[in-house]
Amino acid sequence: MICIGHRGAMGYEPENTLRSFRKALDMGAPWVELDVYNVENQLVVIHDDDLDRTTNGKGAVMKHTVAQLRALDAGKGERIPFLSEVFDAVNRRAAVNVELKGPNTAELAIAEMRKRVAAGWKWSDLLISSFDHAQLHRARELEPNVPLGVLVWGNAAPFIKTALALKAVSLNPALQFTDKALVDEAHANGLKVFVYTVNEPDDIARMRAWGVDGVFTNFPDRALS
Ligand code: G3P
Ligand code: MG
Repeated sequence: MICIGHRGAMGYEPENTLRSFRKALDMGAPWVELDVYNVENQLVVIHDDDLDRTTNGKGAVMKHTVAQLRALDAGKGERIPFLSEVFDAVNRRAAVNVELKGPNTAELAIAEMRKRVAAGWKWSDLLISSFDHAQLHRARELEPNVPLGVLVWGNAAPFIKTALALKAVSLNPALQFTDKALVDEAHANGLKVFVYTVNEPDDIARMRAWGVDGVFTNFPDRALS
């Protein structure tokens, strides 16, 4: 079962900052996950659609310019990173899951990934996921090689069909809605199962016992131990 550092190692460092991704790498996480929005045709790495919880700014991320966003403190003096900066920082030491949060993110994520593949990354070390399945369709239309993960909140079984139609590699259900039957059904359909967000040691152990393929966790060291 692979360990996917959720927003880096957000249990230890400010989420979705370079500091958080470095922490996940230092802990030995083989994968990191991050969230992106399109602002002025650049992908910025932040989870919420507003700035209030994770930065010293206020209001909607997409109502700001990149320059305004980059002037903010995202925790411990860190800036909101560009997706390209995260790729540079990871530098192929881990695989990267880009979660598309905002509109018009698929094109830019695919462009960034193509650039990385041209520089030696493997498509198998990349994953695009989203709760917005229309963005996933757009990504698939643009790039037949990109691995896709179908994020679902709630009962994920009906979305196995969606994943197959997308030629996705994985179904990504929430822990609260994951049971052994779902894992078995996804596997029977040739899909991997990546579960979010799994922080407690007994939950991590249960996911492993059910044959889950990967867990998103705020505490990479716990899933790796
Ligand atoms: O991709 C797993 C997880 O990140 C999905 O939920 O809200 O943490 O982006 P969220
Ligand atoms: Mg996410």
